[in-house]
Order: sequence, then structure tokens, then C-alpha cells
Amino acid sequence: MDLRAFIRDIPDFPEPGIVFRDITPLLADAGALDAALEGLAAIARPLKPDVVIAAEARGFLLGAALARELGAGFVLARKPGKLPHDTTSAEYALEYGTDALEVHTDAIAPGSRVLVHDDLLATGGTAGALCALAEQLGGEVVGCAFLIELGFLPGRAALAPHAVHSLIVDAGE
Ligand code: PRP
Ligand code: MG
Repeated sequence: MDLRAFIRDIPDFPEPGIVFRDITPLLADAGALDAALEGLAAIARPLKPDVVIAAEARGFLLGAALARELGAGFVLARKPGKLPHDTTSAEYALEYGTDALEVHTDAIAPGSRVLVHDDLLATGGTAGALCALAEQLGGEVVGCAFLIELGFLPGRAALAPHAVHSLIVDAGE
């Protein structure tokens, strides 16, 4: 199945010059959703993760389902102030300024094998913060699995030495 056909490009959203990759058509199609999860699971299964960590909000869409598919647990990384228990946080750079993600400090047991997941890899800021959070809690990042990678941006290099696996690599604007 050609999953690219289910991803809609929206020019100039959320601001001029940005082409937004809208995955809602993929999510809404039972066959495409199944194929996406099967593809991500095939990438991730050999990595034998104990848990999948994913970022609010779009990382949650496939992340928890992927964890279930792998027989792994699921760890939520959320924007500051959203998680109710003790947290640790990691900052990451935005085009202007910084943002941060938080996880519960007891969400990852030391020595756990952690798969980082997000819907999309662009600059690598978000996924880099997920790697940092996993490592702050003593987890071992066994790889990063994305639905879409924007291959014309330096996300893959930014995540080195962590292995990057992407179901769809988008070569250009
Ligand atoms: C988008 C996307 C990734 C991130 C990728 O999330 O879902 O998480 O950007 O960009 P990066 O590699 O440059 O960090 P966004 O921050 O728009 O938030 P959302 O998931 O809540 O929509
Ligand atoms: Mg996101």
C-alpha cells in the first residue's frame, strides 16, 4: 500500500512557507492505519523495546497502538505542567525560543529498552528531547521510529548516534 497517498500536503499552514503534512486521511482509513502500524511494528520489533515513548499530541496517535502491537508499554511525554506526578523535563529548540517536554520520573525503569516514536521527524528537536528524557531516567534508546521523515531537514543527523527508521521519507518540498 502506498501510504504517501493518504498524507495530505497543506501549503502555508500553520504559517506562510510551511507545508503541513496532514495524516488525518491515513488515520481515517482502516486499511492505511493498519498498514502504517504494521510497517512501524516491523521496523521496531527487532529492536525489542520494553517501552515506547512518544510526544504530545500527534505522537500519541500511533504511539500507544504501536506499543500494544509490540507488546511494550507506553510512556507519555507532555508539555510542561500537564502530568500530575513527579516529572523530569528536557528542553528543545524551536525556530524562535525553546519548549520543553516532561515525563513522570517513574515512567521508565533504569535499564529499559526504549523506542522513541513520533508521527514526523523534521529538525529532530522533539525526538531529541524524547531521547534525552529516556536517558535521564536510565533507559537505553534502542532506536527512533517515525511515520514520516522530512529528508531535506537535518533531523536524522541531529539524532545521531541514535538509529532513525522512517516508514516514509519525504525528499523535498
Ligand atoms: C510536530 C510533529 C513532531 C514535530 C517534529 O509536532 O508532530 O512532533 O513537530 O518537528 P521537529 O523534528 O522539528 O521537532 P508539533 O510540535 O507541531 O505539535 P503536535 O504534535 O502537538 O501537533
Ligand atoms: Mg508533535
